[in-house]
Amino acid sequence: MRMRKKKWARPELEACPWAVLDSDANRGRWRSLFPKDQPLHVELGCGKGVSTAAMAHAEKDVNFVAIDISTDVLGVARRNVAARYGDEPVDNLRLAVKECSFISQAFSGEDRVERIYISFCNPWSQRERQKKRRLTHPRQLMQYRDFLVDGGQIWFKTDDDGLFDDTVGYLAQCGFTIQYLTRDLHASGFAPNYVSEHEAMFTAQGVKTKFLIAAKGPLAEKPDVLGRKKRPAPEITTICYLEKDGKCLLIHRNKRESDGNYGKWLGIGGHFERGESPEDCVLREVREETGLTLTEYAFRGVVTFVSGDWVEYMHVFSATDFTGSLAADCDEGEVCWVEKEKVPGLPMWAGDRIFLRLLDEGSPFFSLKLIYDDTGLAAAVLNGKALAL
Ligand SMILES: C[S@@+](CC[C@H](N)C(=O)[O-])C[C@H]1O[C@@H](n2cnc3c(N)ncnc32)[C@H](O)[C@@H]1O
Repeated sequence: MRMRKKKWARPELEACPWAVLDSDANRGRWRSLFPKDQPLHVELGCGKGVSTAAMAHAEKDVNFVAIDISTDVLGVARRNVAARYGDEPVDNLRLAVKECSFISQAFSGEDRVERIYISFCNPWSQRERQKKRRLTHPRQLMQYRDFLVDGGQIWFKTDDDGLFDDTVGYLAQCGFTIQYLTRDLHASGFAPNYVSEHEAMFTAQGVKTKFLIAAKGPLAEKPDVLGRKKRPAPEITTICYLEKDGKCLLIHRNKRESDGNYGKWLGIGGHFERGESPEDCVLREVREETGLTLTEYAFRGVVTFVSGDWVEYMHVFSATDFTGSLAADCDEGEVCWVEKEKVPGLPMWAGDRIFLRLLDEGSPFFSLKLIYDDTGLAAAVLNGKALAL
């Protein structure tokens, strides 16, 4: 439930010497905010600071930074801490405003944090996509790794079984080792435990507190924290349409049935090799596939092919002269000179007919995007403008 706006909260925090409104300004310098150089523990989503106040007051040999996204909530925490400390100076606790999704903006390895507390954070269990917002999600844990010392711990409490079980998995993925785990903290005898506001509330409803301690260990493999599907890298290719004496040099891709272009007629070309320019690539491809060396050629345009996850950027050349003689064999298909007027009648991709027309018309340098779906050519966009199909 969202807390009512508290007009007094921000002014009170601004006037409070142990509250930090600009957390990012202290990145790498948190230790210098405390009079005593002692272990640094950070609480994420501290809420109204009920347990924070008790813990910091009881453990004066530790410096604490208690973070929450909401100034209204932190304002209440400030009052709770002030009440707990009374006349004693609050010199081992700082209340800090920060959205923990971006915690790396506020903490770095130089802060050498020894422990992180996360208590009763929002489980975000309703939808799979929302789980990324959990304070124990791998995208968070990987940030915490950066400012936790080796062996540094996460102390995690929750009422939520699903979040607890998932967190055990998240921790393993991110190189943390579970050192202690209980599904009923209050029956476990673990001490000291500082009961938080939500812990008290759930306990009163008969919900057990799940609790674990995990330590940062070595990371075998960096997890894919965004859970994004790995997409194939775009392919980068050249193609050349060589014309001479009213004929066009084409390849009939008829050697391998597994070839995606099987049965189609195409110009000569292929994939870039590392470090090649479009010209390097087209010259090499034409030489390898036909035995010819281009002597007159021009870079005419770029075709962007999209089909589902597959993307290809094809650099289109035309050529009018060459040296050498046509090689007898090409392992991709049959290379042959075709009368120009017969070219439109050959089996080829619908999109290829569009850029062949542009070449024929002597079009200036063009950018053509061709989108294919299961049914064939779904869209064509020339120099940013959709073409009617
Ligand atoms: C359910 S309360 C728990 C408060 C306290 N830890 C407890 O156990 O009673 C969750 C707290 O986390 C804070 N919070 C939620 N998401 C946050 C985020 N991304 N960054 C910082 N604080 C967050 C909320 O403002 C709220 O005060």
